[in-house]
Amino acid sequence: MGPQEIKPGIWWVGVVDWNLRNFHGYSQTYQGTTYNAYLVLDDTITLFDTVSWKYREEFMCQVAQVVEPEKIDQIVVNHAEPDHAGSLPYVVDRTRPQKIYSSRVADKFIRGRFSSQDWPLEVVENGQTISLGKRSVQFAETRMLHWPDSMVSFIPEEKLLISQDAFGQNIASSERFDDWIAWPELKKEMAHYFANIILPYSARVPKALEAIQALGWDIEMIAPDHGLILKEHVGDAVAAYQEFAAQKPEKKAVIFYDTMWESTEKIAEALASGLTAQGISVKLYHLKSWHHSDVMAQVWNAAAVVVGSPTHNNNIMPLVADMLTYMQGLRPKNKLGLAFGSYGWSGESPGILSRWLQEIGAEQPLDPVKVQHVPGHEKYREIVSTAESLARHIEDKVRQTSSR
Ligand code: FEO
Repeated sequence: MGPQEIKPGIWWVGVVDWNLRNFHGYSQTYQGTTYNAYLVLDDTITLFDTVSWKYREEFMCQVAQVVEPEKIDQIVVNHAEPDHAGSLPYVVDRTRPQKIYSSRVADKFIRGRFSSQDWPLEVVENGQTISLGKRSVQFAETRMLHWPDSMVSFIPEEKLLISQDAFGQNIASSERFDDWIAWPELKKEMAHYFANIILPYSARVPKALEAIQALGWDIEMIAPDHGLILKEHVGDAVAAYQEFAAQKPEKKAVIFYDTMWESTEKIAEALASGLTAQGISVKLYHLKSWHHSDVMAQVWNAAAVVVGSPTHNNNIMPLVADMLTYMQGLRPKNKLGLAFGSYGWSGESPGILSRWLQEIGAEQPLDPVKVQHVPGHEKYREIVSTAESLARHIEDKVRQTSSR
């Protein structure tokens, strides 16, 4: 995709990574992604962010279609993660900018990562404004959203927020704007991104949005570093971020498990059946078929996480440990938990899973479901009855949380 003018004198000069499936080594993307970078042509010429090192040559080709690279006066590094700053050495070498602006933490990261002794690095403070000529740029730090170096740039004359990872989505497309996609699909991709990258820092999101509101920024367009530029859904996206960050539980349970000889799977299905009969929406994930990032994309607004594993070598199955480790790092809030598992003789897995749920902070109002060998008809009824109890706890939790 060639460069595209998104506002008069402001160009998208990013790269589309159509075939990416593994985002940052931990999250699945089904629609690739983009590494967005923006070029502002004013009395001075400013480049906002770069792209991953892998695409450095395509990127410079994009830039060169708009302006001779050596005419770039300054580079703004909103975020120093390699998918946006990875090409910096290549770009700096070819553009020789007069200034490279970044937050104080990004400055440290750049100095730590690159041989940047002769780079004209300059720290910008939270709230600082620089002039580009007819336009200006205001900076706001958005620490831990999602790195400590993260900041956003606002061009008030254009009502344009360049938001780095915030409001990003992993969507590779020939279109640059959000006017061709239905909002539910865009929101789903935004939620997948948020749930796997920003979720641990949810509490900072409303504070960051309040801080931006206090700065009086009138935002008409949001240009993130991944996916589509928002012009039709700016208000929807801000509301969605508030919703994702609140993690308000819905009448929904996410059941995930692994199984050896299908006994644990039978328990999972019995639990799903009991919950569904009580009006609870269920997402059922056999972890050999689903990636941990897809499970997390459903956990953020679920009232309950229900986790199962057979006992294997006095422990749990490796894919379940993977899922729990991943979930623990993402620190979801407001969850009920229930552990379950089958066993042949020693039967440790439900207890181990219950301890994991405790560490994740999930309330466990019910004892783990434990089945020796295969659940027969009586046991099946017992499991369904446990699911019905869990459904009542889910109803209570949803009621309590929505009345807060
Ligand atoms: Fe898209 Fe945190 O880098």
